[in-house]
Amino acid sequence: MAGVDSSSSSDLHQARQRIHTAFEPQLFHKASGRLAQLLADHFEQVQHSQARVLNWEDPETNVQRALEELASSPETDPLPDQNALAERFASVVQAMLQRGQNLHDPRYLGHQVPASVPLAGLFDAVGSVTNQVMAAYEMGPWATSVEHALVRELGQRIGWAPGTFSGLVTHGGSLANLTALLTARNVALPDAWEQGIQAPDHRAVIVVHDDAHYSVTRAAGVLGLGTQAVIRTSIDEHRRLDPIELDRLLTRLAEEGRRVIAVSACACATPTGAFDPLPQVAEVCRRHQVWLHVDAAHGGAVCLSSRHRHLVEGLALADSVVIDAHKMLFVPALCAFVFYKNREHRFQAFRQDAPYLFDPSAPGLAEYDSGLRTFECTKRAAVFGLWGVWRTFGPSLFADLVDVTFDLAVQLHAKLQTADDFEPLHRPECNIVAFRHIPAQLREAPPEQLGAFQLELRRRTIQSGDFYLVPWKLDGVGALRVTLINPLTNKEHLDQLLDVLRRHGQEMLR
Ligand SMILES: Cc1ncc(COP(=O)(O)O)c(C=O)c1O
Repeated sequence: MAGVDSSSSSDLHQARQRIHTAFEPQLFHKASGRLAQLLADHFEQVQHSQARVLNWEDPETNVQRALEELASSPETDPLPDQNALAERFASVVQAMLQRGQNLHDPRYLGHQVPASVPLAGLFDAVGSVTNQVMAAYEMGPWATSVEHALVRELGQRIGWAPGTFSGLVTHGGSLANLTALLTARNVALPDAWEQGIQAPDHRAVIVVHDDAHYSVTRAAGVLGLGTQAVIRTSIDEHRRLDPIELDRLLTRLAEEGRRVIAVSACACATPTGAFDPLPQVAEVCRRHQVWLHVDAAHGGAVCLSSRHRHLVEGLALADSVVIDAHKMLFVPALCAFVFYKNREHRFQAFRQDAPYLFDPSAPGLAEYDSGLRTFECTKRAAVFGLWGVWRTFGPSLFADLVDVTFDLAVQLHAKLQTADDFEPLHRPECNIVAFRHIPAQLREAPPEQLGAFQLELRRRTIQSGDFYLVPWKLDGVGALRVTLINPLTNKEHLDQLLDVLRRHGQEMLR
């Protein structure tokens, strides 16, 4: 039998020495001390807007720069002493800090990715540096336990009774939606997991509305239903799912003999943050005996805010719910929860057995082997950030973060309404606001010109590093969109935003 070639003993000796240096606790101590200082300085600078929000660089220039740095990585023989290694470590960290997106700058008003609570990242780091993983309970006993505790806590805050529901954590809202919809598919089409989708089930559909996140349609493709099996139901003038239209659609689909795997509602939808009317939607789904999935990736956090929890009234009526902690619970990516109202559904998504992982001599432990319920086999301890923040500051911090950022949206909306040269495109329900800048010169401009102006204005603004915001389109016409997802943003920053957009706008029109 071929085996591993044996290297000379002096080569191996040197290899062991280099490894020993890399693993040396004293080096870790030195490097992490430097890291703590660098990060504290970084937050000091960034939180006071002393640098650009986005360190924009053309992507290929950045890739070339990264390649050059790779090529100049040190030769390992001989490795320098610990102080020199710690300095080298610090210079790599510094470059990372100088070249990224500064989410902690209060002028960051971009995607639904928060200026995370800084200590949350340190809790994540504990999981990373000690490589706590999950799949089988025994690989990450505390990570698993913490995840179970948070699932139980959040599920009760959704409104379910202890012991009746179940849940898990996965790597992001998209995978969470896929997992929940896979469960819905396997419940609706019990043979599909083993046999694939056969006639007549290939006519099965998922119902969403136009503002649903694209991951739902992607899930339909992955689940073998096909993206054309995503049927759109109507939204009203507030961009919320219209339950009367949903009722009509489900009646028609039943008459056509089409199986509905799930209705996927939004709490809230990505474009303008509209919350679907869950009690009415749930009632329609109940009458038609259809699985209700609620994508509460962004808005589910309101369960922790007494001021805003009314927005998700009826959430407990859903069969499955997704909440991203790496959005409005302000922890670093990725930490997404999937919940099932009915505990019996917890093993329906992935009906597989992996005997080498899951020990048949201890069958009760399957409940705690996360690999049976998630797409991931090895899974990082994604909940440590949330757990650490919850334990350190208490859950009221999450309510504070929701309340303060939602209030910023109200303030921005009021400013947009009173400014002659801005047009808010909706009344905010959460911390997402879409709008257009319409300078006097463009008041009579055709929609295409006005839309193109918004998109170019955004690009100029983000590349200047003055503010970070994102593009949107309403009825095919370009618009601007912000998520107030940095709790350090204040009224003055909102005034600055309008001024900066005016300034860049005038430069463009010159
Ligand atoms: C409503 C909604 N669902 C799902 C997602 C996808 O989440 P993730 O980016 O964690 O995959 C997003 C992302 O913004 C979202 O807004």
